[in-house]
Amino acid sequence: MPGLTIGDTLPDLEVETTLNGVIRLHDYVGDSYTIIFSHPADFTPVCTTEMGAMAAYAPKFAEMGVKLLGLSCDDVQSHRDWIKDIEAYAACKVTYPIAADPDRKVIKQLNMVDPDEKDPSSGQPLPSRALHIIGPDKKIKLSFLYPASTGRNMDEVVRAVESLQLAAKAKHKIATPANWKSGEPVVISSSVSAQEAQQMFSQGYHTTPLPSTKNYLRFTNPQSAT
Ligand code: BEZ
Repeated sequence: MPGLTIGDTLPDLEVETTLNGVIRLHDYVGDSYTIIFSHPADFTPVCTTEMGAMAAYAPKFAEMGVKLLGLSCDDVQSHRDWIKDIEAYAACKVTYPIAADPDRKVIKQLNMVDPDEKDPSSGQPLPSRALHIIGPDKKIKLSFLYPASTGRNMDEVVRAVESLQLAAKAKHKIATPANWKSGEPVVISSSVSAQEAQQMFSQGYHTTPLPSTKNYLRFTNPQSAT
């Protein structure tokens, strides 16, 4: 069976968490954007820095209307003990729940298994540094898949959410270009004709001249797009 990917519906699994007891994933998502991010194991260095970084960014995600759910396979008591280290390292509270997955049923169904990492004591699979951004429709909008050796960049997660939310608000008539940052010009989607673009983008747009003369690289102001 191919793994969970963009456009798939998040499986509505039951998971035990540090803050909310046992939850169903769809209930947790409700009608918000939600980030579910996995970590190989509790009490490991890169994971501690990532969990701390997420704790520091949690107010920013809350402002954007985004819920957070961490996941590591160890049990909830281990997570609670680990949170004390994370909070000491990050100098802020971990305000988001962390799910447990001792049977690995969640990481298997959410395509979060790292084929290269095994728990040294039990031989069980471990999660990769996977991250799914789920839309209010419970569908996967974007996924990151990093190996254990590479910690994630939370600025990139924020940037990805901003891009997704902007494109959705503009009904996918716009998209964000390479290295885009919040507030910078966006591109008009190829599905929008020149006539539609003139009507749709009140502040106008700029077409980049290119050798093909196909006029497909059109930039506009993000405010005029929504
Ligand atoms: C870490 O978080 O540093 C880590 C966890 C599992 C395997 C390798 C590194």
